[in-house]
This record gives sequence, C-alpha cells and structure tokens, in this order.
Amino acid sequence: MEQQIQEQVQDYYGTQLASSQDLKTNACCTTDVPAAHKKILATLEAEVLEKYYGCGVCVPAAVQGCTVLDLGSGSGRDAYLLSSLVGEQGHVIGVDMTDEQLAVARRHVQTHTERFGYARPNVEFRKGYIENLASAAIADNSVDVVVSNCVLNLSTDKAATYREIFRVLKPGGELYISDVFADRRVPEALRHDPVLYGECLSGALYIEDFRRLLRDLGIRDYRLTEQRQLTINNEEIERKVGNIKFYSMTVRAFKLDLEDQCEDYGQVATYLGAAPDEPHGFRLDDHHYFETGRPVLVCGNTADMLTYTRYGQYFRVDGSKERHFGLFDCSSPTASTSSSTEAASSCGC
Ligand SMILES: C[S@@+](CC[C@H](N)C(=O)[O-])C[C@H]1O[C@@H](n2cnc3c(N)ncnc32)[C@H](O)[C@@H]1O
Repeated sequence: MEQQIQEQVQDYYGTQLASSQDLKTNACCTTDVPAAHKKILATLEAEVLEKYYGCGVCVPAAVQGCTVLDLGSGSGRDAYLLSSLVGEQGHVIGVDMTDEQLAVARRHVQTHTERFGYARPNVEFRKGYIENLASAAIADNSVDVVVSNCVLNLSTDKAATYREIFRVLKPGGELYISDVFADRRVPEALRHDPVLYGECLSGALYIEDFRRLLRDLGIRDYRLTEQRQLTINNEEIERKVGNIKFYSMTVRAFKLDLEDQCEDYGQVATYLGAAPDEPHGFRLDDHHYFETGRPVLVCGNTADMLTYTRYGQYFRVDGSKERHFGLFDCSSPTASTSSSTEAASSCGC
C-alpha cells in the first residue's frame, strides 16, 4: 500500500501536473516572498518557476558557505535560490524520487551556475527517497541545513524520514521546513484518495503527532516561524475533508539536546546585526524578534539555539546555566498568545 501511494505521488508530480496552474487546491502555493529572494527568483529559468509546488518560504537566514539538503527538491526552485545564497563555497543537494522533476531541475544547472558567476556548479540533484537518504548517498552528520518545501506530508513513513533528517544533520545543524499540518489526525480512508494525498492534504501530520515524533527522536523544542490556514478553494475537496483544518506552517528545529520546557537561567541574548540581509533584527520564531543591539531575556533553549548553531556568530549570549530561576515566563508581551496549534507552556513546542 505504501509503495502504491508513493507511485501515485510520482505520477501526480511527474505526469499529471504540468505547472502550478494545474493544482486543484491552494495547499501548494506560497504567498509572501522576502525582497532579497524576489531578486534572485527573477533570475531563475521559467520552467523551474512554473513547476514550483511549495507552500511557504523555506530558506532560513545566514546560509552562506553551508551545505544545504533540499528534500523533495522538485523542479529545483528553492535549490537554485539556495545555490545563490550559499555562495560558491557552499553546496546544495536536492533529492527527489520523481524522474520528470529531476530532469527539469538538472536541465538548468549550467545556466544558473553561469548566471551566478560561479566557476563550477555548487548544486546537484540526486535521485532518492527521503525515507532513506542513504539511497542518495547522504552521510551521517554531513549537512548544515535541511530544508523541505511541501514534501514531508507526502512521505509514507514519516518516522523514517525524520530519523534520516537528524542522522544526516551535523550537531547544531538546522531543519527548516514549510509543510502542511492538520489540527487532527486525518482519517485513513482519505489517505487513499490520490488527489487529496497529491495535493499535500491527506498525508498531513496532526501537529501534536509531529511534536511527539520529534520528541521521540530527542528533539524536544521546535519553533514555529509562520503559519496560515489553508482555504482549499475547491468545493468537492472541502466536502471530503469536512471539519479538518489544514495549516501551512514553517518550522525550525535544531540538532541540539534541549529541554522539554523553557527554563529560566537568567540568560540574555543580544543580536549583533551582522547576519547577511538582516541588519536591523533577527527573527527566530513567531514570538522572538531580536532587534539589533537590544538585550533580551531568553530561556535556556533559546540561549542554546543562539549559541551552539551557526547563529552563534551573530549573537552575544550572557549568562550560563549554573543558576536556575524556575520555569521561563512566556507570558511576556513578546511571547505568542496561545493558538490551537501551539502548546501554551513553552517558547516552542
Ligand atoms: C509538492 S512537490 C514540492 C516540490 C518542491 N519542493 C517545490 O517546492 O516545488 C513534492 C515533491 O516531493 C517529491 N517527493 C514526494 N515524496 C517523496 C519521497 N518519499 N522521496 C523523494 N521525493 C519525494 C515529489 O516527487 C515532488 O517533486
């Protein structure tokens, strides 16, 4: 059955969809794009852009020099955007299982390499399955950033996929994904509807099961950076999904040994203003915006995210974990208010 679903997904993206115009819902479509990305996207080949089926902005800050892995890279739109952002010393690997998608992405490697002014390509597209990244020869602890845009919901074995992600990430590395999540578990019968599955709806994880899945892998805190409820805009599909609410969410998580709650050690983080394209401030998540030069009291997990990752070079974090002051108070004005998709008692999950 799992193989059958996978083949249906390959058929959907390989032969049924010619461009994003053919999508039957608005699940796989992005709204806002940062200005810096717009400029780069304007230089990409039309075919790459026309076959873009992403659901969010899936490129984190400060990736220059990084090795980035794009899971389900499709026609290569995000991979090429990243190719420009990581620079000539960086490396981008796109992995996809669908031959037709790989063919489109690979066709334009040389053109974009020349356009970005690189002596040799810094981007490659490998055939493989995200549930088994060894199939694409991705080694343990070899990747700085894993991105994925509207793909992980399509995985038929999500536990394997997330296990693989945290296998290949380096310690302190970042997972940054835009994906579709649901406010409840989607009934099994809907998973067998090829259009609902292909449109990135019926494979969506219930957000609390996502939290549990990460927790079981030792990832105890993730951060939401953006979310919007999907409106679907297709009467027949709306009838089938009934009261299930779907969200496009962008989340980040780090390969760090964090606590399951936000704890207060009196630590203070100050953004130094030097990350590329972020002179005025840095957004970690939907309730942490660090204005340049302004000290902010943070929980122990946030302090670690801003110390033991590539973001560490852009922050000064004062204080240590020697003295504990109890649970961190997330009810300050900068903390997010509760929502149905967020647990109330922590900065993250
Ligand atoms: C919704 S499209 C998104 C493509 C791309 N990320 C974008 O933003 O345009 C989903 C892509 O994921 C790929 N895909 C789905 N399941 C996969 C799997 N298990 N392993 C590898 N690729 C997969 C499909 O072939 C397709 O190209």
